[in-house]
Amino acid sequence: MLDVRGLTKSYRTRAGSLTVLRDVSFTVERSTLAAVIGPSGSGKTTLLNVIATIDRADAGQIWLDATPLHCLVEPELEIVRRRDVGIVFQDFGLLPALTAAENVEMALLMEDASRRSRRARALEALDAVGLADHANRFPHELSGGQKQRVGIARALVKKPRLVLADEPTANLDSQNALALLTLMQRLTREAGIAFLVATHDSRLLEAADRRFTLCDGRLTP
Ligand SMILES: Nc1ncnc2c1ncn2[C@@H]1O[C@H](COP(=O)(O)OP(=O)(O)O)[C@@H](O)[C@H]1O
Ligand SMILES: [Mg+2]
Repeated sequence: MLDVRGLTKSYRTRAGSLTVLRDVSFTVERSTLAAVIGPSGSGKTTLLNVIATIDRADAGQIWLDATPLHCLVEPELEIVRRRDVGIVFQDFGLLPALTAAENVEMALLMEDASRRSRRARALEALDAVGLADHANRFPHELSGGQKQRVGIARALVKKPRLVLADEPTANLDSQNALALLTLMQRLTREAGIAFLVATHDSRLLEAADRRFTLCDGRLTP
C-alpha cells in the first residue's frame, strides 16, 4: 500500500542546513494502523507532510500502491491529494460556520457529485464514527472528541487509500483519546485503508498494529 524508501529531507535555516529525515524507509500494508513515534522535533510532522505531498523530500521514493508520488507534479499531485489521501489534523481543522455534515461534505466539493449524493455520503461517514444524530450541529456544539470524529469522517468520506493523522489525540483527554483510537482501529480494518499516525502519545502505541520510532531523523528498529 504505502512504501517509503530512503527519504531524506533537510531544511535550510539561518544556522545552516538542518537534516530532519535521514534515509527513512518503511512500508504500511492495507488494513493496518501504523504509528510513528518520536519526541517533539524528531521529524514526525515533516515525514507526514512529505508523504502527503504537502512538502517535498530531497531524495527518496514514496509509492502509493503502483503510483510513484515522488515522480508526480501538479496537477497529478492535486488529484492524488484529493482522491487517495485523507488527512486528520491535531486541531480538528473544522470550519466553525459549517455544520458537522457540511464540514464532511467539504472534502467532496471538488468531485463531480450532486449535492444530494454528497450529503448522503457525508451522513454515512458521520454514521460510521457514531455521529449520525449530530450531523446538524456546529463545531462549537460538539466536544473535543466529537470534533475529532468529524475530522475522521471528513478524512474517510472520499474513501481514500491512505489516511495521515498528525497527533490526532493531542487535544483530547484520556477517555476521548482512547475512544478515538478504538474507532481509528476499527475504521482502518473496515475500510481496508492504511492509517499512519504521528504521535508521542503512549496510549496510541497499544492500539497500533505497527510502530516506527523516529530518532535524530532515522527510524530505529
Ligand atoms: N519549515 C521549517 N524550516 C526549518 N526548520 C524546520 C521547519 N519545519 C520543521 N523544522 C525543524 O525540523 C525538525 C523536525 O520538526 P517536525 O517535523 O515538526 O518534528 P515533530 O513533528 O516530530 O515535532 C525540528 O527541529 C524543527 O524545528
Ligand atoms: Mg509535529
